[in-house]
Amino acid sequence: SSPTSSPPSSSSPPQDSHFIGKKEDIVRARRVTRLVNGCRDVLVLYHQGELHAMDMRCYHSGGPLQQGDIEEFNGRMCIVCPWHKYKITLVEGEGLYQAVEDPTAKPLKTRWRSKGIKQRIHKVTEVNGDVYVTLNSSSEAYESDTYQTERYRANQLKS
Ligand code: FES
Repeated sequence: SSPTSSPPSSSSPPQDSHFIGKKEDIVRARRVTRLVNGCRDVLVLYHQGELHAMDMRCYHSGGPLQQGDIEEFNGRMCIVCPWHKYKITLVEGEGLYQAVEDPTAKPLKTRWRSKGIKQRIHKVTEVNGDVYVTLNSSSEAYESDTYQTERYRANQLKS
């Protein structure tokens, strides 16, 4: 092989990504929060061998997801918001809820349903033990965007 050959692309972080920390530190802490690119509070968490990143404040009312438990519902890993127990899938940011199948049936039977994607999920990349986040810049509006504005942050600091 020629000495000038460039390293495999996996050895450099994506261009628009932001360094979050060393993987070993994130694995140890389980969760870290960062203000990414000076504009977005992101929660990066490690669970069962996987890294995930999402908006830090819950889409419902801005609850601190970094303090939520992780549980499985209907076969899907979710973070459970500590404020009102909303369940958000780690991979897609979907809001899950239990719906009554048939209100006339006894006993009542419920099944898990999705409210759609509510929490903005960001991309995590690991390069040589370093963890990077690429903000999800989709122009689609997510409800969690409400709690990422300058105005919301300023009000938080005041209170
Ligand atoms: Fe998260 Fe209400 S703020 S469930």
